[in-house]
Amino acid sequence: MKPAELKKRLAAEATRLDRVMRDDLTTAIKADSTLAAVLDHALFAGGKRIRPLLTILAAQLTGSADNPEALPPAQLDRLAIAFEYLHAASLLHDDVIDHARLRRGRETVNTRWANEHAILAGDFLHARAMLLAGTAGGIHSLELIGIATQAMVESEFIQMEAAARADDQEETYFKVLAGKTAALIAAACECGVVAAGGTPAQRQALHTYGANLGLAFQIIDDLLDYQGEPTATGKAVGNDLQEGKMSLPMIYALERAAPAQRDWLREILTISPAERLGHLAAVTLKMAESGVFTACRNRAEELIKTGFAGLTGCLPPAAPAQKAAEALALLGALGRYVLTRKR
Ligand code: IPE
Ligand code: IPE
Ligand code: MG
Ligand code: MG
Repeated sequence: MKPAELKKRLAAEATRLDRVMRDDLTTAIKADSTLAAVLDHALFAGGKRIRPLLTILAAQLTGSADNPEALPPAQLDRLAIAFEYLHAASLLHDDVIDHARLRRGRETVNTRWANEHAILAGDFLHARAMLLAGTAGGIHSLELIGIATQAMVESEFIQMEAAARADDQEETYFKVLAGKTAALIAAACECGVVAAGGTPAQRQALHTYGANLGLAFQIIDDLLDYQGEPTATGKAVGNDLQEGKMSLPMIYALERAAPAQRDWLREILTISPAERLGHLAAVTLKMAESGVFTACRNRAEELIKTGFAGLTGCLPPAAPAQKAAEALALLGALGRYVLTRKR
């Protein structure tokens, strides 16, 4: 399949999932309040739908024909959108935590309304995700989601504390990524296998694929935080520097800097957030000159390769060959997309 065709397939599937979410929210929202508008703002503003797409693709890759344990398509959809809800909930809360004003090219909920709206709408989506995962996916899916959500919260604590002490250990950075981004993406993939009635080996392979994709995804995100084009990313540039976040570009920059430059960077990390932002252009330039962004990209590329390598052995013998092969191609395309994405 040609890249343009792969892109078209993913976009069509994302549009279909949007409809599933709209229908679901119509039943979920009971009272007339601002909640509907806040959820509309948080959910339908151009998100890429990567996590629910992964659930569907993982199920297609590992589901064998007429497995009686496989979920019917409508239930699989409900399980898949639980991951978009969890993701959106985490972003609602994240933008409060990160004092972010812009997401997907629009004001964040905490900016347009207030922190209260963002926190409560996030809680609502969180609850709805649990309900969907439990009723559609069952106890295994619920367990995987519980594990991933706990990891997300714990890693936000680790990240906060790492920023406070300007911890430049790569190990800390990857620990944060594993929790805040990779855990949910890995769970989205693994739940797809559970929904398809797949084997433990398939669950493991898809979990590994998702975890690596998630790590690479966040590395690219952290790179775009310095190098991205706000009109494309829909987010402000420099938020991580402003928040003093020890992301991979900063860790590599400190590692590669000559002593005087390292002191300069360290000094910047100690001043106030607003002052820090004033140094964004100079810091980004230094990073580019010392090859930091290329090194980040290379790291992400390795992770994508490792994750995808385990997938080829995943096709069940009784799988409808064309469907599984197509899912494999789409999972490969998603990996390439993560590396080249501008938004
Ligand atoms: C943004 O995720 C948050 C990170 C984990 C880096 P996405 O880039 O998947 O967000 P949307 O939903 O497509 O906007
Ligand atoms: C995204 O993290 C939030 C989660 C993964 C929970 P970031 O704070 O790094 O991402 P953006 O840049 O706001 O999307
Ligand atoms: Mg954050
Ligand atoms: Mg953020």
